[in-house]
Amino acid sequence: MSDILIRRAVLTGTGAYLPEHIVTNAEMAQRVDTSDDWITERTGIRQRHFSAPHETASFMGAAAGREALAAAGLTPEALGAIIVGTSTPDNAFPSTAVHIQAALGAKNAFGFDLSAACSGFIYGLSVADAMIRAGQVESVLVIGSEVYSRILNFEDRGTCVLFGDGAGAVLLEARNVAKSGPGLLSTHLHADGTLADILYVDGAVGRPEMTGHLVMHGKEVFRHAVTLLSGAVSEALETNGLSAADIDWLVPHQANKRIIDGVGKKLGLPPERVVVTVDQHANTSAASIPLALALAVRDGRIKPGQLVLLEALGGGLTWGSALLRL
Ligand code: UT7
Repeated sequence: MSDILIRRAVLTGTGAYLPEHIVTNAEMAQRVDTSDDWITERTGIRQRHFSAPHETASFMGAAAGREALAAAGLTPEALGAIIVGTSTPDNAFPSTAVHIQAALGAKNAFGFDLSAACSGFIYGLSVADAMIRAGQVESVLVIGSEVYSRILNFEDRGTCVLFGDGAGAVLLEARNVAKSGPGLLSTHLHADGTLADILYVDGAVGRPEMTGHLVMHGKEVFRHAVTLLSGAVSEALETNGLSAADIDWLVPHQANKRIIDGVGKKLGLPPERVVVTVDQHANTSAASIPLALALAVRDGRIKPGQLVLLEALGGGLTWGSALLRL
């Protein structure tokens, strides 16, 4: 008996870009009252990449996107859409996505930015998945690209040591596949705007009187993170009738190693099935998951056919999960 085929968004390529300039914890300690020991113990972070002036969200996003297209063997002209999760766009408008469209020469693609802070990539995957399954588009580049070094308050040691810059991208393409085949199996999105004041950027072009700096009540965010993220991954497993034992890889948002370990532990996933990049990249917000995914695909850890669970939480609060088979 032949399997019934389902139209799904299948991941066919990944890409990553990191600025050349690496800043170690020791270098941060020359700038603010902190230490390598404090940062490593409390967060797992050892270094971060900070961008040069030309390394904007669109520059880095285009580089990651170009790599994802090349990995999939899709020409820029054939691309249908570009969705960019970013809180640090080049301009208030036009979107980072149209700058990337121009840089790639993806002249037949439409594009837009999506604002969901560190959950931007998961939100973007969810939107792309819905558009592909509805038949609106055949291929979408979902990109997370961030230059948080430009919104950090270097007077606040509680936040400035935690973030870095970078970009990651995935290409999703419509494919008719068997139920057991590849593709995005589910996404779950959540938000709680009553918690907007525990993690935010203080101002924007609409509020020019403010500083434009990232503000975080870290302990409060931490308190919500493990519970909400564990809820989002359980939801993904339940929806698909799976247990943690079925998951090959957890690729979590990379904010703090203690949060990553907490979610892994609640799930009962051994550390060797969790992709960790926070030590090398720090928190790159919407870029952190696609960056981690691209690096683990590139180094051969994540293989075709494997089941990969993604989760993120960020300003909003926003949070969510996505489950996909490669
Ligand atoms: O991506 C968005 C989601 N974001 C997150 O998930 C972040 C969640 N929060 C966290 O990861 C943690 O709360 C932090 C890493 C931000 C902070 O860790 P913590 O264990 O909650 O530390 P704390 O804020 O309670 O600070 C403990 C102490 C304080 O000193 P006192 O009051 O105990 O004397 C801080 O002043 O550590 C001090 N401190 C520092 N010391 C050295 C805070 N930042 C630093 C620093 N270096 N950079």
